[in-house]
Amino acid sequence: MELANAGVNGSAVLQARGIDKHFGPVHALKNVDFSVHAQEIVALIGDNGAGKSTLINALTGVFPYDHGEIVFAGRPVRFASPHEARSAGIETVYQDLAIAPHLDSVANIFLGREYRQTGLLGRLGFLDKDRMYAETSAQLKQLGVRVPNLRRRLVTLSGGQRQGVAVARAVMWASKVVIMDEPTAALGVAQTALVLNLMRQVRDNGIPIVFISHNMPHVFEVADRIVVLRLGEVVAELDPRQATIDDAVSAMTGSLRPRSMSNDRPAEVRHGR
Ligand SMILES: Nc1ncnc2c1ncn2[C@@H]1O[C@H](COP(=O)(O)OP(=O)(O)O)[C@@H](O)[C@H]1O
Ligand SMILES: [Mg+2]
Repeated sequence: MELANAGVNGSAVLQARGIDKHFGPVHALKNVDFSVHAQEIVALIGDNGAGKSTLINALTGVFPYDHGEIVFAGRPVRFASPHEARSAGIETVYQDLAIAPHLDSVANIFLGREYRQTGLLGRLGFLDKDRMYAETSAQLKQLGVRVPNLRRRLVTLSGGQRQGVAVARAVMWASKVVIMDEPTAALGVAQTALVLNLMRQVRDNGIPIVFISHNMPHVFEVADRIVVLRLGEVVAELDPRQATIDDAVSAMTGSLRPRSMSNDRPAEVRHGR
């Protein structure tokens, strides 16, 4: 089977090679290879506990991994913190909404990138709040993200509104890769459609997206390629134009591929490695 992007150009923007990660006795990632290519939305799917968030956390410096290598823009990297990954152009919407809940939308959008006032006031640490407010307002409007009042702390907003701010922040600052861990989980129908559209726009502007989701219709709607994790292992890579939701679910649950029959899998499901 021909895959959407596999091998098209060997140039992965971001690549994990042989990543291994244990949490005590739990072997959360087993020799995982995963790459993100330019101009693609690659979906990372798998059952709860499959290791999706762990892979993202390892890729973006949330915690160290045991073995393996991460290559970014052609060079081996080891991000020591999510801040380093962000500085390198990789924006992540983390599943746990690791965004500052006690700050307002403006502060969250500009977290770590605050504008200072010009001159002495700026050197004294005074922030240019008006400019940040105006840019946040314009950005959210352009993205179609509606937040009732940009001065309200995130804790007082709905899950969907918070997620909207997190997605807006990622899309606004990413220059190389956007990673979204379950970005539509807290969203209603209209907001979900908006986020899926936004993802296509970002991809079409040349920034690839890693899209983690449990929602198979969403995955099949936007993904160019689907990578399936199961029990910490990449077990399949699917072309959404050819595979079905059933194929994806079967790969996730292992029902198509008992380990003893690993050479006898259906044509639609290709082994990840
Ligand atoms: N910080 C952590 N400490 C201990 N175990 C963890 C931690 N994060 C994840 N795990 C374990 O690693 C495995 C993979 O989890 P996770 O990556 O969150 O799965 P997914 O995102 O696919 O649902 C699970 O068994 C989970 O319990
Ligand atoms: Mg997760």
